[in-house]
Amino acid sequence: MTMLLRPLLLFAFAIAGHAAAAETVLITGSNQGIGLEFAKQYAARGWTVIATHRRDTTPATLAELAARYPKVRIERMDVSDAAQIAVLGAKLKGTPIDILLNNAALVRTDPLDQPNGNTNQLFGTLDYDLLDDFVHTNVAGPLRVVETFVANVRASQRKTIVAISSAAGSVSAPPFMPNGSPIPDHYWYRITKAALNSSMVLLAAQLRGDGVTVVMFHPGGVQVESFGALAIPGLVAPEEAIGKMIRTIDGLTIEDSGRFLQNDGTDHPW
Ligand SMILES: NC(=O)c1ccc[n+]([C@@H]2O[C@H](COP(=O)([O-])OP(=O)(O)OC[C@H]3O[C@@H](n4cnc5c(N)ncnc54)[C@H](OP(=O)(O)O)[C@@H]3O)[C@@H](O)[C@H]2O)c1
Repeated sequence: MTMLLRPLLLFAFAIAGHAAAAETVLITGSNQGIGLEFAKQYAARGWTVIATHRRDTTPATLAELAARYPKVRIERMDVSDAAQIAVLGAKLKGTPIDILLNNAALVRTDPLDQPNGNTNQLFGTLDYDLLDDFVHTNVAGPLRVVETFVANVRASQRKTIVAISSAAGSVSAPPFMPNGSPIPDHYWYRITKAALNSSMVLLAAQLRGDGVTVVMFHPGGVQVESFGALAIPGLVAPEEAIGKMIRTIDGLTIEDSGRFLQNDGTDHPW
C-alpha cells in the first residue's frame, strides 16, 4: 500500500465507522419483552437508542441499560396518549431517526397463564368497552407515532419504519391457537393487529415517494416475561428472534416497503 493510499483508507474507515455509530432507533414499549431486547441489541451495536415507555417512573430495566450504554436515552411516551406523543415529538424536533420501531401493544388484560383471564376477548363474553383501548394502543398509537416522527425519519439515512405486528393479524390463515384449541381467542388483539397491518400498507404507499421503507413483522413466538410461567411449545428466546429481525431490517430496501415479514425476512401470509 502506498504512503498516500493508507491515510485515505483510514479516513474512509473512520467516516464509515462514524456513520454507523451515529444511527438512531426509537422504540415504543421498550421496558420489557421484545422492545427491551431490541433496545439491548441496538445499544450493543453502539446506536443511539431512544427507549420509550409508558410508566410513571423510569423502569429499572431501562435504567440498567442506560447505565451500561450512555447512548441509551430513556423517554416517556404512552402511545395511546396524544399529548405525551406531541411532547416527545417537540423535544426530538430535528433529530434524525433511522428506524422508528412501533413495538408497543396491548395484547391482553390478564397474564397469559391465568386460565379465565381473557374472557373479555372471547366471543360470548366480549367486553366492547375494552375495544377502544385496543384501537387506541395498537392502531391509532402507531399511526400517530408515525405522523409525529415522520420528519425525523425522512431526515435520517435509513428512513425505515417497522411495526411489530403478529400472525394474529393474519386474516387468510385459520386463527392459530398456541394451546391447540380450535376456538378463536383474543378477538380484540387479532382485529386490531389486522387494522395495524392495513394502516402500515397505507403508510408504505404514502411515504414511498420520500424513500421511506415501511414493513410489518410477525416476530415469531417469543418467550417474554409477560407470558409468566407458561411454556408454549415452539417459543424462541428473545435474543434469537430479535437478532433475526435486526439482520432482516439491515437488508431492507425501498423495494420491501409494504411487506408483512417473518423474522427471517420471508413473507408472512396476510
Ligand atoms: N411475544 C410474542 O410471542 C409475540 C408474538 C407476536 C407478536 N408480538 C408483538 O410483539 C410486540 C411486543 O410484545 P411482547 O411480547 O414483548 O409483549 P409485552 O412483554 O407485553 O410488552 C409489551 C410492551 O408494550 C408496552 N405498552 C403497552 N401499551 C402501551 C402504551 N399504551 N404505550 C406505550 N407502551 C405500551 C408495555 O408496557 P408495560 O410494561 O407498561 O405494560 C410493554 O413494554 C407487540 O406488538 C406484540 O403484539 C409478540
